Amino acid sequence: MKIQVIQGPNLNMLGVREQNIYGPMKLEDIHAQMKAYAQQSNIEIDFFQSNLEGEIVDKIQECLGDAQGIIINPAAYTHTSIAIRDAIKAVSIPTIETHISNVYAREEFRSKSLIAPVCAGQIAGFGPFSYHMAMVGMVQILQELQAMQTAQNEQKPA
Ligand code: DQA
Repeated sequence: MKIQVIQGPNLNMLGVREQNIYGPMKLEDIHAQMKAYAQQSNIEIDFFQSNLEGEIVDKIQECLGDAQGIIINPAAYTHTSIAIRDAIKAVSIPTIETHISNVYAREEFRSKSLIAPVCAGQIAGFGPFSYHMAMVGMVQILQELQAMQTAQNEQKPA
């Protein structure tokens, strides 16, 4: 089982950008925490960050047949990208949208997500801990999927 983490534009600037909103933690540190949790849960994890919409679409498409879950912070593309939404819908892999800040408590344009309706769920507003919550949710989804697959295999005639 593998989780693909996808980080959108400007998240490579964490620790530098708007620390009053996003805090001092760097993206590498967030990823190190996620990796530790994945290892504990016996799950493979891969990280990808891009500032380019098309590269994010490519990465989502590459998940087909490779990853069983996606955790994505589409950053500003959350509010604009039909292409990322369509890619998530196309691959049909359980996806959790994740935000560091509470997008609903900020500028009005941030309270609309084009991505959330095609996701299993959305987590926002817990700082970097949002990613940990997304991991817990995703591990739960993957365990349920695995249990369903095992049950289906047991029902098949030998
Ligand atoms: C963000 C929220 C977005 O509105 C913003 O454009 C970001 C970061 C968050 O994690 O809080 O770049 O996705």
